[in-house]
Amino acid sequence: MQAREHWHSRIGFILAAAGSAVGLGNIWRFPYLAGEHGGGAFLLIYLMCAFTIGISALFAELAIGKATSRSPIGAFKALKAGPWTLAAYLGVCAAFLTLSFYSVVGGWTLAYVVKSVTGALGGESAESASDAFGALVSSTVEPVLYHGLFMALVVIVVVPGVRSGIEFASKWLMPILFILLLTLILRAVTLPGAAEGLEFYLRPDFSKVTATTFVAALSQAFFSLSVGLGAMITYGSYLGAGSGSLPKATTWIAGIDCGVAVLGGLLIFSAVFAFGHDPAAGPSLTFVTLPTVFHEMPGGALFATAFFALLAVAALTSAVSLLEVAVSYMVDQHGVSRRTAAIVLGIAIFIVGIPSSLSLGPWSDLTLFGLGVMDLADYVTVKLMLPIGSILLCLYAGWVVRPHLLDTTSKRDGAYPLTFRIWTVMCRFVAPIAITYILIAGLIR
Ligand code: TRP
Repeated sequence: MQAREHWHSRIGFILAAAGSAVGLGNIWRFPYLAGEHGGGAFLLIYLMCAFTIGISALFAELAIGKATSRSPIGAFKALKAGPWTLAAYLGVCAAFLTLSFYSVVGGWTLAYVVKSVTGALGGESAESASDAFGALVSSTVEPVLYHGLFMALVVIVVVPGVRSGIEFASKWLMPILFILLLTLILRAVTLPGAAEGLEFYLRPDFSKVTATTFVAALSQAFFSLSVGLGAMITYGSYLGAGSGSLPKATTWIAGIDCGVAVLGGLLIFSAVFAFGHDPAAGPSLTFVTLPTVFHEMPGGALFATAFFALLAVAALTSAVSLLEVAVSYMVDQHGVSRRTAAIVLGIAIFIVGIPSSLSLGPWSDLTLFGLGVMDLADYVTVKLMLPIGSILLCLYAGWVVRPHLLDTTSKRDGAYPLTFRIWTVMCRFVAPIAITYILIAGLIR
């Protein structure tokens, strides 16, 4: 077998994995969920889920990848996982579906880059920003074209192979995104009226917490950390033997990801209250709030362009890891060339995503179980498939391949056995029971 490529450096690996984790989930999905679920209480529950169950699942994926040096399906086959391989197939389907609507939102960020340059963000007031966003997403052709453009970019990165491109992009762009985020926060928290937003976001109000809050928080933790469908197995598979402590790297990745989400929330909610937006506006929240902030800044158009461009790149590095799950399946199992697999799947995902885009415009009357197409795709993938995938993954890692993982990740890495013991209990009992409970409670409500 050909020697497998490795990450250039440990920090390169951490930033690349963080690049998969940090994406629209942090700056778009997290703030609007927090807004819908009462702010501070959601933030707290989310962080709790991420640092207990989410991080355990993340470690399980990275360790399986490292132990087998293979991408998801290949990894399960190499471990002779038998029926557990089902989890990998579920992951491939979930990745395909998730990307279909993720790419639509990725397309919005591209559209916003263009609108920042042409000055069409409508940031003069909350109403005009909301109108500008509404006009974009409810039209028929424009958002579909941007969705196609976004998918094309994803394919272009995936064709030559994830490793070099992703590691390079993440290493440079992640720090820039971070600095820009901090700059914007400085502007936003000093706006008159921002204090009310900080209060909403940072002071938990538990009276708004229901079972659905937990479902939303837990599934968001999986989504944001990129776990539940095997994407992180691929990233772990590019780790060589002497790559340092995996538990520590995992903690860094989760820390960066949650850190960016917390900062994203700070930015959005300061501005939401300063400009009189509705915190429970849903998926439009980030796109209507940020333009009003940029409008208040000297050189706002420049900041807006830079910010949406970086957000588009962050979305791109995440989308790449989603497409890679399906591509590596075609390459490993069906002997298709990487190029063909990426192009064919890219086109298929583009087509499947079109109804999601149209569901916000001409097809807005089309609903199933009371949800439009995009909401339904989001629900089925993020709220059902990711948690179920994570249960299977945790059970498998904790009960079946654990000795194998200890062998390849802990002993050689000199990791604390205590960490591994806690992780084992998390994977064997806590995660499966908690996820099952939350799923059922959320479904029956
Ligand atoms: N974590 C990414 C975000 O927050 C999305 C993502 C990338 C993802 N790869 C994934 C979600 C794998 C679930 C599984 O935007």
